[in-house]
Amino acid sequence: MRVVSVIGARPQFVKAAPVCRALRAQHEEVLVHTGQHYDPSMSDVFFDELGLPTPDHHLGVGSGRHGHQTGAMLAALEDVLLGESCDLVLVYGDTNSTLAGALAAAKLGIPVAHVEAGLRSFDRTMPEEINRVLTDHASDLLLCPTPRAVDNLSAEGVTRGVHLVGDVMLDAARLFSERVVPAEAAARSGLAEGGFYLATVHRAATSDDEEALGSVVRAFGSLDRPVLWPVHPRTRRNLAAFGLDATVAAAPGIVDIEPVGYSEMMALLRASAGLLTDSGGMQKEAYFFGVPCVTLRDSTEWVETVEAGWNVLVGTDEQRIAEAVAEMSTPDERPVLYGEGHAAEAVVRVLEQYLDETKRVG
Ligand code: UD1
Repeated sequence: MRVVSVIGARPQFVKAAPVCRALRAQHEEVLVHTGQHYDPSMSDVFFDELGLPTPDHHLGVGSGRHGHQTGAMLAALEDVLLGESCDLVLVYGDTNSTLAGALAAAKLGIPVAHVEAGLRSFDRTMPEEINRVLTDHASDLLLCPTPRAVDNLSAEGVTRGVHLVGDVMLDAARLFSERVVPAEAAARSGLAEGGFYLATVHRAATSDDEEALGSVVRAFGSLDRPVLWPVHPRTRRNLAAFGLDATVAAAPGIVDIEPVGYSEMMALLRASAGLLTDSGGMQKEAYFFGVPCVTLRDSTEWVETVEAGWNVLVGTDEQRIAEAVAEMSTPDERPVLYGEGHAAEAVVRVLEQYLDETKRVG
């Protein structure tokens, strides 16, 4: 089979890496990078270390308001798909690149497979939630990481083409996370293993809102351990725009660094005493490694981590963040929630089966 895979933002490079491997072992893949993330620290570094092949098409779309960014991707992807004969288009996660890929393919009558289907935060103010819902409803194959995702789809009347495959981020963690020694990663920022919290902040609700970002920064500066913070370019810009960069610089407990690559980030996570994040994927990665997480949001797609007691949702209130960090603990149990780290092979099997069946029917 011949598959066009569409990726464009940092988390998609991680999710695609194991699937690319499994797919290319037996099939042909055309890789398209939309260019949604373009800073070398947000893109190139991931291709190098995760062994992702050079994209066959780089659309160079870059930043922009949602409509502009998604629309530019949609137009460029349609041109690519018209020029590349393929059996299926594969999209990942919940970014604008995901939605553009699904929509471009669906409108051309090309089957769409969505990896990480069925996730819901039930917060329609998040651009990612709109992307998830619309992508799922445009997809022919819905590759779900958890039973909850399957249930979410069923509640929306989506039951055809739904498959529980496990989580490809666990595959990535299994394949690529142990290349950097945790203590060495921590030492690069002058920190000791277990002696700091790791933080990430990039979502619109946290990083575009002056009050929310200010509150998060003050909370980071008030904790019992230093906070190591690899700062997303969007957040870096907003810190400066809101005049919060001076607060960060003046806080002895905040160690801000540039974004790091995947293996380095996983090593820092494993070396940390806990994670503070508004990221989706990082909540789960913390769970994979048994690191407690405080989520700087009011909702999550990864509800299982909260139910298992490893994650707590606190929003962006300074006081609540500080309290949650003070109460952080590691439960005795860490049940298997996301499969066994072989979701990529399951994804490829589902695609093969689907194309076999459609050929037989056709
Ligand atoms: C995007 C995804 C989000 C994902 C996240 C991972 C959407 C709606 N959001 O959010 O689901 O979790 O990626 O990081 O698709 N920027 C740079 N350099 C870059 C990339 C972005 O400076 O390499 C700046 C852009 O100028 C832009 C801002 O960051 O203004 C937002 O970028 P965008 O790609 O829209 O969303 P993210 O916040 O990265």
